[in-house]
Amino acid sequence: MLTSERARVRRLGNFAFAMRGVTGIRRTRWLLNVRQVPRPPIERRAPQPVDAVDLAIAERLIAAHRTPSAPAAGENMWAWISENRQRELAERLAGDDPRALAQLLVAMFREDFVLGMAQGPLVWRANSRLEDQAWALKSVDSLVSLAEAAGVVPVENPEQGGSGLAFRGGLEGLLTALEEALGFRLDFPDVGAQSGLLVDGRLITPSTPDQVYAALRLDDAIRINLDTDSAAHPRVTEIGGGYGALCYWFLQRRPGVASYTIVDLPLVNAIQGYFLARALGPENVSFHGEAPSLVRILPDHALAEAAAPCDAVVNKDSMPEMPPEAMVEYLEWAKKNCRGVFYSYNQEAAGEFLGEAQGVVPAAVAELGGFERVRRETAWVRVGYVEEVYRCMAAAEARGERPHASQASPRRTSGPPSA
Ligand SMILES: C[S@@+](CC[C@H](N)C(=O)[O-])C[C@H]1O[C@@H](n2cnc3c(N)ncnc32)[C@H](O)[C@@H]1O
Repeated sequence: MLTSERARVRRLGNFAFAMRGVTGIRRTRWLLNVRQVPRPPIERRAPQPVDAVDLAIAERLIAAHRTPSAPAAGENMWAWISENRQRELAERLAGDDPRALAQLLVAMFREDFVLGMAQGPLVWRANSRLEDQAWALKSVDSLVSLAEAAGVVPVENPEQGGSGLAFRGGLEGLLTALEEALGFRLDFPDVGAQSGLLVDGRLITPSTPDQVYAALRLDDAIRINLDTDSAAHPRVTEIGGGYGALCYWFLQRRPGVASYTIVDLPLVNAIQGYFLARALGPENVSFHGEAPSLVRILPDHALAEAAAPCDAVVNKDSMPEMPPEAMVEYLEWAKKNCRGVFYSYNQEAAGEFLGEAQGVVPAAVAELGGFERVRRETAWVRVGYVEEVYRCMAAAEARGERPHASQASPRRTSGPPSA
């Protein structure tokens, strides 16, 4: 529906998605008195004009994309997405015109090719006040969940009444307190023409709170489970990084990261590659075939090139959507090459796509063996998502080492992220 050629069907799809977001809010009591919830305006940023930096990045992306790879094939969700939503991007990457590619990328959050990893196009196209209000409600709910998880505001309790506790200092006050506790600004970088809430001069996308939350949890998993040296300078590998949000916020959260590698499908490499190169600086991000930088973007067929051993493997909202053999291949890679932790933030509803049930991470991990689960809990921000932290036993033992164990703090099995 979202990408139908019929405008009315698209509009309906867009509306349905905005409403579906409301069904996923955590504080359903708010719906009884929706007026108490601040709903700031939606900002729709204009694309920045293509400049020399964009052209240089686009040239590098075209060169990186020339390495041979099999197109995403088969009857799986991402083969479908690639076929139905990413054709124009694929054509421009395969062409020889950096400007044409850059023109697409400077407005990426309005384009269908990011659907499945960002809601930007849906928010941008929302064409009724009700849709705007639904996105605002969902975004504010997520922001409050993040603030609750970070301990910046008390948690609401339906048994005690008192709804809207987080707004006592206004939404601006909440945001300022949250930023102070986190140590970085929550404004989305001005890259790709994003859309989201405008609060006190910051653009907060509907998924920013969830991405920031995952970054805090990954940070916690590393600090709690790794030895002091590795925790201070971790080498992180992310599988299926979307447009690069988790990587971006994780790097805002903590200095000293030794390397952050993202392994993803080649077309999505271009999306995350452009976003991160613009948001972090082109010199900090390398593409396939280039000398490694702090952030390294690799296609799935180059998994063997990812730096090993690494200290943490992370997967957020993606292993279940991959073909089962791809999920197993990544887990095998982690088993062999990660000597620290595997952090999984996924749904496990095994919903069907094209008649195939999606994968379930804990089931696949249990079948493979070599991991010890040290934490499992539902996420504070995103309803229906499960966070798990596994210590990777096999790689460390194969090297005759003990798996990383924190000397700094006792092992913890649950609890909110440290702010
Ligand atoms: C729903 S998106 C989630 C993106 C990101 N982790 C997030 O939470 O925003 C799923 C991600 O998995 C990636 N993906 C799908 N199949 C893959 C595969 N076989 N290998 C690596 N990544 C894959 C997609 O390209 C996309 O980046």
